[in-house]
Amino acid sequence: ASMRDTAIGEILVQPDDLHHRVRELGREISRDYAGKEPLLVCVLKGAVFFLADLMREIEVPCEVDFMAVASYGSATQSSGVVRILKDLDAAIEGRDVIIVEDIVDSGLTLQYLLRNLTARGPASLSVCALLTKPDRLQVDLSPRYVGFEIPDRFAIGYGLDHGERYRNLPYVAALKPE
Ligand code: PRP
Ligand code: MN
Ligand code: MG
Repeated sequence: ASMRDTAIGEILVQPDDLHHRVRELGREISRDYAGKEPLLVCVLKGAVFFLADLMREIEVPCEVDFMAVASYGSATQSSGVVRILKDLDAAIEGRDVIIVEDIVDSGLTLQYLLRNLTARGPASLSVCALLTKPDRLQVDLSPRYVGFEIPDRFAIGYGLDHGERYRNLPYVAALKPE
């Protein structure tokens, strides 16, 4: 998608701000997990871009695994009913797990993941979300690491899609209403 794509609206987070904040999050995680070997659980597909940048800012030994989930319901709103499309490759029992998400919107996806992964007996479980939408949160959870709080706009870019497009934008923007 080019800058001239008419569906791309106001920029919510600029590339420089993404870069600097991701670096800070990596430092924070490195400090908090000193002496440990955290396992980053990346939630496909949106979190791939954030994961790749974040992991390169983490200075403790760490591993990554991937999970894909789908929520039943409309394209722009998740229903809270989640099913696993691709599970983790390996067991997480006894591991220090960090769920990496691009965005927490209603929080329903994350609520499901927290319950599901907790049941597998990790040594610890935390969440690193690049974006949260406080005005939209429907469940009682607060990620330990948050990059930016954004307003209640449909966001695209840096992993976030609309109909699978726009994930490759180097910034986070609002989708322009038609
Ligand atoms: C998006 C986003 C989060 C989830 C947040 O993923 O990447 O995973 O929705 O929504 P929630 O807090 O309301 O549950 P999506 O299901 O669109 O899949 P994708 O990552 O492949 O785009
Ligand atoms: Mn996602
Ligand atoms: Mg999506």
